[in-house]
Amino acid sequence: MKNMKSIKKAVFPVAGMGTRFLPATKANPKEMLPVVDKPLIQYAAEEAVAAGIETLIFVTGRNKRSIEDHFDTAYELERELEERNKEKMLKVVREILPPEVNCVFIRQSEALGLGHAVLCAKPVVGDEPFAVLLADDLLCSDKKPVLSQMVDVFEYHKCPVLGVQEVPMEDVHQYGVVDAKLSGDRTYDVGGMVEKPSQAEAPSNLAVVGRYVLPGKIFDLLETQERGAGGEYQLTDAIARLLDSQRVLAYSFEGKRFDCGSKHGYLQAQVEFALAHEEVGEEFRQYLLSLDLGGASSTKKAANG
Ligand code: G1P
Repeated sequence: MKNMKSIKKAVFPVAGMGTRFLPATKANPKEMLPVVDKPLIQYAAEEAVAAGIETLIFVTGRNKRSIEDHFDTAYELERELEERNKEKMLKVVREILPPEVNCVFIRQSEALGLGHAVLCAKPVVGDEPFAVLLADDLLCSDKKPVLSQMVDVFEYHKCPVLGVQEVPMEDVHQYGVVDAKLSGDRTYDVGGMVEKPSQAEAPSNLAVVGRYVLPGKIFDLLETQERGAGGEYQLTDAIARLLDSQRVLAYSFEGKRFDCGSKHGYLQAQVEFALAHEEVGEEFRQYLLSLDLGGASSTKKAANG
C-alpha cells in the first residue's frame, strides 16, 4: 500500500561527543552503544520507519563511519553467514531497514548545538514538515510507537508537535521545558519554551524529550538564531520563536522513556530490555534473582579501573 503519511523525512542528530560514556565513545558514537543486541540508533530508526518515514537523515560528526556502515549492506558478512547457513542472523543483518527506506548522511563540521545540527539537514528536508529523533532518548510503548503517536497528533491538528514528559523539578535544568496549557487528550498548547532553565526559571516540569515534528519553516528561524544556553545554537530557542507565528503542541506520549544519555538510564534500559528479550529474558531474570545485591563484588576493581 502506498505510504500516505505526511511526514516522510526524519533527522537524527548524531554528532554529539558522548563524553559521559568515555572511554566507550572514544572511537564510536554514543548512538552505536547497544541495548542488549541493537544499537540505540537502530531503535530510533525503527521507530521512525514505523511512523511512515522514508528518508533517514543522519547529521554526523567525527566517528560517523560505524553509523554509515551499520545501515549499509555488509556484503562480506552476508556471504560468510550464507556459507555457514546462519539463516536467522543473515535475516537480522539484511533487514536492518526495509529496502524502500533511504539513508542520507550529512557532516556537521563543528559541534555548535542541536539547533545547528538540525539546520545542517535543510538541503535534504527542504520546506516540508519533518521529524527529529534524538536516539539517546530510547522510547517504547506497548501500544503505538511514540513517533507514530506524534504523527497522528500532527495530522489531526496540522501543527508542530513536541514530545514531552513530566520530570522531577530538580531535573528541569537538563531539558528544554515548556510553558503549556492542557488543551486535549495528552496535548498541551505551548505558550513558551526555555532551554535548560534553573528550577526558579522553569515554567513547568514538562520537559521536551528527544522527539519533535517540525515545519520546514523552522530552518528560517534556525538560520537567524543567536547562541543560547551553553553558548550553543539551541533548537528550543528557534521553536520558542516559531510560537510568534503559529500554534505548537506538546504531547505527553504514552509509553516509557529511558534516558540513555546517562549511565543510570542506559543501565535501566539494558536491564528492562534484557528481561523482555525473547532469547535471553528468562535466563537473565534467573540471574538477577540469584544476585546478592548487598554483597561485596569481585567485579569492583574491573568496573572502576
Ligand atoms: C536536548 C535538547 C533539550 C531536550 C533534551 C532531551 O538536550 O536541547 O531541549 O530536552 O535533548 O533529551 P541535550 O540532552 O542534548 O543536552
